[in-house]
Amino acid sequence: MSAEATQDIEAYATRALAELEAVLDQKALEAWYRAHLSPSGTVTALRKQIGSLPPEQRKPFGARVNTAANGLKEAFERQKGVVEKLELERAIRREAVDVTLPSRPLPVGGLHPITTAIREIERVFNGMGFETFESPHAELDELNFELLNMPPAHPARDMQDTFYISECAVLRTHTSPGQIRAMRKYAPGPLRVILPGRCYRHEQVTPRSEMQFHQVEGLMVGPRVRLSDLKGVLLACARQVFGKDQQIRLRGSYFPFTEPSVEADIRCTLCGGEGCRVCKHTGWLEIAGAGLVHPTVLRNGGYDPSVVRGIAFGMGVERSFMLLHGITDIRHFFQNDLRFLRQFR
Ligand code: PHE
Repeated sequence: MSAEATQDIEAYATRALAELEAVLDQKALEAWYRAHLSPSGTVTALRKQIGSLPPEQRKPFGARVNTAANGLKEAFERQKGVVEKLELERAIRREAVDVTLPSRPLPVGGLHPITTAIREIERVFNGMGFETFESPHAELDELNFELLNMPPAHPARDMQDTFYISECAVLRTHTSPGQIRAMRKYAPGPLRVILPGRCYRHEQVTPRSEMQFHQVEGLMVGPRVRLSDLKGVLLACARQVFGKDQQIRLRGSYFPFTEPSVEADIRCTLCGGEGCRVCKHTGWLEIAGAGLVHPTVLRNGGYDPSVVRGIAFGMGVERSFMLLHGITDIRHFFQNDLRFLRQFR
């Protein structure tokens, strides 16, 4: 305790009050209390002195100490209120949420490039009056093969290694069984459908072959349908998807369910037809198998082949996508590596 406090209690109290006025936060307030009013503070020390004074001085000294102590206590209570208010204001400011700040960006997903490609093809054909038709992935052997002119032991079955899920059911090896389902829904009326979706083949997975892939099947049946319609719709599709100067070429081929059968090529989009590695120097890229629907298949679908004819095509989505973008490994499509997928956003 300072000598000043004993000699001039009033001066001490004035100084302590001035100190208190400068106290504006909880920590300083506590420190002030400890220094002045706590059991170890100056006021307590002054009180303890009373007993050691000569008797006649005790009363007046005690009275002065009490006056000072009361003044300090009162001032302390007042300042405590001030500090509490200040602390509350500070807390409100500190913890305030600025709702006008921009939010943290959320990661946004995107469509798989194959989904985007299928939607693009769908959009084009929907625009030409082709309705999108859903057909199951688990399919009867009968629809996947037999009704498409591939009876058991037909050599064409060897081209499509098959996942059998029972004696008579398979994971569809192509979207063509959907042809039968669509025809059975619409026969004997005209129909125009596309069937996009996943297919499965029991293949060794290599850079060139996956056990799952996508096709977009197209089918149009009606009394005046001709091969030129096939060329027309494929050309329209090629021009809308790959550019208005695209050209198309039909080459003779073989499928059990079409007669005649063709392969449809587009001009190589990388070299423009000059010849390059991607098109193996032919200037053309194969994008679909196609043809006139075989009369037996029409009959299996419920039509009279002497009254209607049909065109059909099946595009390999991954295959075409790979050719167009120079992708050399089909497995990228199913590995979900964002570094690959993001390139096609
Ligand atoms: N389904 C055949 C395939 O997977 C493609 C095709 C479809 C061919 C329609 C002709 C007509 O290879």
